[in-house]
Amino acid sequence: MEGSEAAKAANKMLFVKTIKEIKQIIKNWRKEGLSIALVPTMGYLHEGHLSLIKKAASENDRVIVSVFVNPTQFGPNEDLDNYPSDIERDKKLCESAGASLVFNPEVSEMYYDNACTVVSVKNLTSMLCGASRPGHFDGVCTVVSKLFNITTPDKAYFGEKDAQQLAVIKRMVRDLNFDVEIIGCPIIREQDGLAKSSRNTYLSDKERKAATVLSRSLNKAKEALSKGEKDVSVIKKIIIDEINTEPLAKIDYVEIVDSLSLSEVSKIETPVLIAIAVFFGKTRLIDNFTWDNN
Ligand code: PAF
Repeated sequence: MEGSEAAKAANKMLFVKTIKEIKQIIKNWRKEGLSIALVPTMGYLHEGHLSLIKKAASENDRVIVSVFVNPTQFGPNEDLDNYPSDIERDKKLCESAGASLVFNPEVSEMYYDNACTVVSVKNLTSMLCGASRPGHFDGVCTVVSKLFNITTPDKAYFGEKDAQQLAVIKRMVRDLNFDVEIIGCPIIREQDGLAKSSRNTYLSDKERKAATVLSRSLNKAKEALSKGEKDVSVIKKIIIDEINTEPLAKIDYVEIVDSLSLSEVSKIETPVLIAIAVFFGKTRLIDNFTWDNN
């Protein structure tokens, strides 16, 4: 039995820090004819990530979870230095969800000091989170490209909570002919409707309570849409009015865009993405849903 097969048989998850080592393991897996999935994460895993890992494990022979807090996707005033991390906890969660390998490189392993190549997806990145976080998607696309090149997955799994990220990565994969299938997975929510996010841990008790207004506002919009409302400004107003009932909430954006091109629409006819970003104190949370009239 090969090393990786023995590891799987013994139910032992591998933990790898270097590109050289992971490439060798993947080479062996490929020789065995195994299918490989990648679940890219920045760690501090929650049930949202675990749902991606479980789905990946049910559809592939081997599942790699990358745990890498990618510095190039954080702006100068963002939370890179405080981003939560607990790799020992992440390892246990990955193993219990069915991961075969956790890839946890250092920044110096992932980026050459004099790296000068950036992957940039135009047009889809100037609005929504791209408008509030300039350069963010260049960082995401660059690191995801590197992870695809390092791990050569057959399938890669991303959460629909980061809807713009998912649309941008799908476009990048198409435009650059990456040989990987991108699978979007549904948002996982707390019992009170708040979408799971590593950033929820930043919220004070009061902010955590206030943050339920996100899903509440989207549910009100869904109600109006299901009664036949098609006017973008009416739907936006419903969402904004509901968010504004919460004094701790400060709106970053409420947008309704075409779900593929992410360009603005004036009437709800094609499938649309209804996306919001709201600050609670210093913590910026996002939520969304896709609506298809047809
Ligand atoms: O969604 C995330 O956690 C990150 O943006 C990703 C895709 C792991 C890239 O760093």
